[in-house]
Amino acid sequence: MPKRVRTAVFPVAGLGTRFLPATKAMPKEMLTVVDRPLIQYAVDEAREAGIEHFVFVTGRNKGVIEDHFDRQFELETTLENRGKTAALAELRKELPSAGRTSFTRQQEPLGLGHAVWCARDIVGDNPFALLLPDMVFRANPGVLRQMMDAYEQHGGNIIGVEECDPSEVSSYGIIERGEGPDTGFPINGMVEKPKVGEAPSNLFISGRYILQPEIFSLLSEQEKGAGGEIQITDSMKVLMEQQPFTGVKYDGKVFDCGSKLGFLTANVIFALDRDDIRDGFVKELRKLDLGDHL
Ligand code: UTP
Repeated sequence: MPKRVRTAVFPVAGLGTRFLPATKAMPKEMLTVVDRPLIQYAVDEAREAGIEHFVFVTGRNKGVIEDHFDRQFELETTLENRGKTAALAELRKELPSAGRTSFTRQQEPLGLGHAVWCARDIVGDNPFALLLPDMVFRANPGVLRQMMDAYEQHGGNIIGVEECDPSEVSSYGIIERGEGPDTGFPINGMVEKPKVGEAPSNLFISGRYILQPEIFSLLSEQEKGAGGEIQITDSMKVLMEQQPFTGVKYDGKVFDCGSKLGFLTANVIFALDRDDIRDGFVKELRKLDLGDHL
């Protein structure tokens, strides 16, 4: 049995430039899809997968994320006094229990790889899950849960992948798939943003990983890569020469909520998925008479 994955790392120190000015004073990860911040979706997904310790790598203006996962006594008392029991239960349900969160600062946004490296002392010599909170999934069971099943079988490092249109490969990190079922197959290589026609597949890395702690020493030596940032993919490529990597083509779909299009689409589909919102939302959309736009 591989060593259990108890810890998840959430890098939330990016600048979120694609969402300015919304992200000028507020972290991108607090943007909401319907009524929950992006970070909440990632934390819920991790909890569903059995994660017990939630590590946030934060940066400037990110204090609000810490507050979000804390109890808010004033608010709770007010809700209690007003008899808003459902809202109160919802608030309490969503909190990781005391002592199960850690926060560390990246200080400078030097890239995703650097953000992950900042969690090294908290994670220690243990495998960990890495979730990019701006990637929100419509999946049941959750994508990390599906990847944990593969981890229990294969151990090593696990990467969640999804199919993209072959014309879009140059926007993503693309893997080279070996023989095996969608629930777990060897990854033989990966390329960052390949040219159309030169990609080894149309399977892209969508922001969910289970990694072995050896990644940290590789990250500490990692030179800056694309965009002048320390890239996690560069260190994963080196780790791949030393340890097995298994791909999971999960059942589900990602929405890149760090981009406006992904964010807007996620809001529409997640609203339509909700029993308490769907009918009213459809009615409002119909009133808009979107004919010319669609
Ligand atoms: P992105 O690539 O989306 O970068 O980061 P970004 O800076 O947040 O957003 P844009 O591109 O400027 O709009 C993916 C994830 O990695 C985190 C981000 O917070 C996001 O969750 N990240 C990125 C860091 O924690 N530190 C970094 O230096 C870069």
